[in-house]
Amino acid sequence: MHSQIIVIKHPLIQHKLTLMRKAETSTVKFRVLLKEISLLLAYEITRDLPVKYEEIETPLAPMKAPMLAPEKKLVIVSIQRAGQGILDGMLELMPSARVGHIGLYREPKTLIPVEYYFKVPQDIDKRDVLVVDPMLATGNSAVAAVERLKSTNPMSIKFICILAAPEGLEHFTEVHPDVPIYTTAIDDYLDENGYIIPGLGDAGDRLFGTR
Ligand code: URA
Repeated sequence: MHSQIIVIKHPLIQHKLTLMRKAETSTVKFRVLLKEISLLLAYEITRDLPVKYEEIETPLAPMKAPMLAPEKKLVIVSIQRAGQGILDGMLELMPSARVGHIGLYREPKTLIPVEYYFKVPQDIDKRDVLVVDPMLATGNSAVAAVERLKSTNPMSIKFICILAAPEGLEHFTEVHPDVPIYTTAIDDYLDENGYIIPGLGDAGDRLFGTR
């Protein structure tokens, strides 16, 4: 597999993903599971964040203790609307991260993404970006979102999803070979409507109960 694709196979994540896939899982449960998986993903993805040592006093003794390096600043960019589910979980673990939003919808016939909203922090050029969207299907939205973000010159970009299709991965890695992709599973294929099979259905609909 392409070295820029990282599949996080932690058993807790895989268990929660299976529950999310089940057709009978309610909107309430789906939302909670997506939040929990996202928190665990954030934990894995931030493994390499640099730390700096600070002099502190415990109740018993002074020591040099690690703290996150202040110059490492993150921005989580959510691709609307399903990205919101991942964003909520990640913010719970990293409450001081800044947030950006990209609004893209898939034109139903062509599946081509159309941008309707773009708002990111002004100092994004001094930040590392985590782009989040639960489903990497055709890859069209992810490719367009990352292309747009690259024009703002962030320090780095990582793409984070829950499920990916081989077709989407191929498309994304071809256009953005410099952007690592984190996912929890790679499924079999895309159907003629652009849904990931076996997948979990429409992530936005399941998250917001719109169907
Ligand atoms: N978007 C979804 O929500 N689900 C899919 O299977 C593909 C794209």
